[in-house]
Amino acid sequence: MKIAVIGGDGTGPEVTQEALKVLDAVSKIENFTYQLTNLDWGSQRYLKTGEIIPEGGLETLRSHDAIFLGAVGHPDVTPGVIEKGLLLTLRFKLDQYINLRPVKLYPGVETPLAGKSSKDIDFVVVRENTEDLYAGIGGFLKKDTPDEVATQTAIYSRKGCQRWLKWAFEFTRKRNNPKGKRLTLVAKTNVLTFGHDLVWRTFQDVAKEFPDVEADYNHVDACCMWMVKNPEYYDVIATTNMFGDIITDLGAIIQGGMGVAAGGNINPDPGGTSMYEPMGGSAPKYTGQNVINPIAAIGAMAMLLEHGGQPNAGRRVLSAIQAVTGAKMKSQAAGKMGYSTTQVGDLVCQAL
Ligand code: IPM
Ligand code: MN
Repeated sequence: MKIAVIGGDGTGPEVTQEALKVLDAVSKIENFTYQLTNLDWGSQRYLKTGEIIPEGGLETLRSHDAIFLGAVGHPDVTPGVIEKGLLLTLRFKLDQYINLRPVKLYPGVETPLAGKSSKDIDFVVVRENTEDLYAGIGGFLKKDTPDEVATQTAIYSRKGCQRWLKWAFEFTRKRNNPKGKRLTLVAKTNVLTFGHDLVWRTFQDVAKEFPDVEADYNHVDACCMWMVKNPEYYDVIATTNMFGDIITDLGAIIQGGMGVAAGGNINPDPGGTSMYEPMGGSAPKYTGQNVINPIAAIGAMAMLLEHGGQPNAGRRVLSAIQAVTGAKMKSQAAGKMGYSTTQVGDLVCQAL
């Protein structure tokens, strides 16, 4: 397995180090080899060279099986520049059309939802990752005048819907939830009567190939209520890019916050290169203090292994994480874990 590693900014490299430590340990137990390519991409490099992705960078990434991304974002760089120039560019250029965001409350982790425990919060969001409002289509008319108009166009293509929804149904089938296989499409068909009509029609079409999976539907506003009131209802959610962005932060907080939530940007096509990342930011104020929570990064590594051809290693890492959150860590908040960043990494290695 060839893995490109972008530690990135702030605490990104610190949590990446722990994920790599766990990778090293699990590769010995599960008996596989891998090769790492360290890339110094991020704000530091951008501030020095004005370049976010160096020339030939995409080709370098394409020659790898997977990418591990720590975090990007720096106080000296205008918000959005690195996010767009690195994260969103890679999602589009590498056609990572699935954004996979598990919402799983690990044992021992506190949720802000009263009366809910780890058996209630365990679902996965399959967010479309290349269309919708993220396509970057729009413009200004009469800019900087009182008559200014701005447009930002959401696009949905039949092919884009088909490939994403098919993957979501297949994923739901494979997940094989003992409570029943249910895929809930989350959209807004009552208002977005063109775009989400195409999404809805495609969903119904694809559903015919998966009679064993319940094809369910929620409007996005209702979904926000259910995620808080009855998270146990959900098995897998398929949703469009922008709504997916919003509900996955809601998901992250009910699973214990940004120290825990991990995600994958997946190109499932043959030869595709996927990218895995902890969802938290670069947390500049904690940089170099050895206090940031590496669990999300280690969780992202578990996803990389699971989807990158080492599923047994992925499952082993996931169980080790749960042993550590369940029996060792005091909290998932930075500086309150009862252990340092490196100690949490060591504990996960021991629990493998
Ligand atoms: C996410 C993030 C990104 C997004 C940002 C950093 C551009 O919030 O992965 O959910 O909006 O998709
Ligand atoms: Mn987001």
